Amino acid sequence: MHTKIKLGFLGGGSNSLIGVLHKIASYMYDDYELIGGIFNTDLGKNKESAERIGLDQKRVYQDLDAMIAEEIKLPVDKRIQAVSVLTPNNLHFSMAKKLLENGFHVICEKPLTTTYIEALELDKIAKISQKVFAVTYTYTGYPMVRQMRQMIRSGSLGNIQKIDVQYYQGWINPFIHDLKKRAEVWRLDPERSGISCCLGDIGSHAFQMTEYITGLKVGKVLADLNYLYEDNRMDVDGTVLFRTVKGVKGVIRASQIATGEENNFTVQVYGDRAGIRWEQENPNYLYFLEEGKPRQVLKPGHIYNSDLSLEAVKLPPGHPEGIFDAMANIYRGAAKAIKNESYDEGEFPSINDGLRGMDFIEKSVLSHKKGNIWVDLN
Ligand SMILES: NC(=O)c1ccc[n+]([C@@H]2O[C@H](COP(=O)([O-])OP(=O)(O)OC[C@H]3O[C@@H](n4cnc5c(N)ncnc54)[C@H](O)[C@@H]3O)[C@@H](O)[C@H]2O)c1
Repeated sequence: MHTKIKLGFLGGGSNSLIGVLHKIASYMYDDYELIGGIFNTDLGKNKESAERIGLDQKRVYQDLDAMIAEEIKLPVDKRIQAVSVLTPNNLHFSMAKKLLENGFHVICEKPLTTTYIEALELDKIAKISQKVFAVTYTYTGYPMVRQMRQMIRSGSLGNIQKIDVQYYQGWINPFIHDLKKRAEVWRLDPERSGISCCLGDIGSHAFQMTEYITGLKVGKVLADLNYLYEDNRMDVDGTVLFRTVKGVKGVIRASQIATGEENNFTVQVYGDRAGIRWEQENPNYLYFLEEGKPRQVLKPGHIYNSDLSLEAVKLPPGHPEGIFDAMANIYRGAAKAIKNESYDEGEFPSINDGLRGMDFIEKSVLSHKKGNIWVDLN
């Protein structure tokens, strides 16, 4: 008999940016059933969010301690099994830690924590708990990103000689130039966001994508960050040169002050035989570039794609796959792990991706603060 994984949410209320994505994604493959959680710090809004979804109000809690205490009293087949942590960054660590220690699987938003030390501790706890821990680097769920991973890793580009990952947004412009408006943005507050805004929020996606598709480990970074104003404590733009452990050179360019840009996440990898380009705003097109030949455009759902890519497609070719599908594919991968089914490690980012991401953020900020020097990653 098909049983759904009972899912809880922390954050992701109707007032949030990311909640709707997780809600729809978790339902897409019939793997999960959202049962309860804490959707909002305001009790009224918390209940309202739950009511809109049609949840039993008894499963909507005021805080995490109450949620854990009540849920673990329930018979195993009734209680929440996995929890999605969708709050601002500063809460990820304490929430995920308590969840693991009390036997819940965790699906956590990025960045994993606000410090590398916290991430290390969480990694240890996760290993001891033997619970599934997914980190939702959403973009790895796109079929053509998975195809790109398979092509790069199987040598279609030849030896990799340049990696260029750009993530440009402009959304922070209306806030950053005005002190009062700046205070409204939690991503600009180190207490809630951690030591970085731009690199933490989107540079971390670019870093994880680099390692996800190439299989190469970044060994060191040299960062030049842009805070725009002396009284602004958080970076809103930055360029990070990196070298992989094997010596491949690359660059991560991230910005939230790229005026007019929306979510321009563009990944370009060049080998000595061919190059490849993928753009998040047109995620169904993967460009394969060869010297002296017309460029090829690969699209989702065709038999020339890898199993990992084909697994991530639900409809016949020509029906565009979007961000909801990408997140759903990550939920699908985590569900396989929770149900002890076999899965490919490319199907969902793990706590190790989260840990590596925190190392990248901290070492990049350190590099910038020390005067743009090379800093080794762990
Ligand atoms: N994977 C991605 O592409 C992606 C995209 C956007 C955001 N994110 C991440 O998702 C997380 C949330 O970001 P957002 O933009 O949705 O933030 P948001 O401010 O829009 O929403 C945060 C939600 O958490 C709730 N909340 C705050 N404190 C809480 C608590 N103690 N208990 C329960 N709920 C609480 C808020 O009421 C709100 O519903 C961040 O870590 C962010 O980095 C990831």
